[in-house]
Amino acid sequence: MLARRYAFAPPALAANPAEADVSSGAKLVQLFGCKDCHGASLRGQLLYDIPMVARLSAPNLTLVAKTYSDQQIAEMVRSGVRADGTELVGMPSQALLIRQYVGNSQTWKDIVSG
Ligand code: HEC
Repeated sequence: MLARRYAFAPPALAANPAEADVSSGAKLVQLFGCKDCHGASLRGQLLYDIPMVARLSAPNLTLVAKTYSDQQIAEMVRSGVRADGTELVGMPSQALLIRQYVGNSQTWKDIVSG
């Protein structure tokens, strides 16, 4: 199950700090809880270690970011799948997608009206 491979076809995306709203990005990192798992400075941390059962760490994103393209990072976070098709175990990508809708006030207008 964990060795399963998923097809991965990321859409084109290239981050340009000159065009991006960096302070908005920092707020979204806060809102989406990236630091809760990846650490206050996103340098990674051990999430849990249950001997003989499971050990899970959230990796250092400041190092990881250098090994992928912007496009790959964006798609990885959204899909929960790496560029090589392997799964990001413990990355809450589905929850992040749901938040995208839950945080959208139009969604709530639609739900309340529906
Ligand atoms: C609930 C904890 C949790 C949250 C919240 C979380 N992550 Fe993760 N993330 C993980 C874990 C655990 C992994 C390692 C997955 C693995 O190795 O299979 C991971 C992996 C990643 C990877 C892939 C690293 C690699 O080398 O393959 C990226 C990129 C990433 N996270 C970015 C983010 C971003 C950006 C956010 C916020 C939008 C975020 N994460 C929120 C737990 C979390």
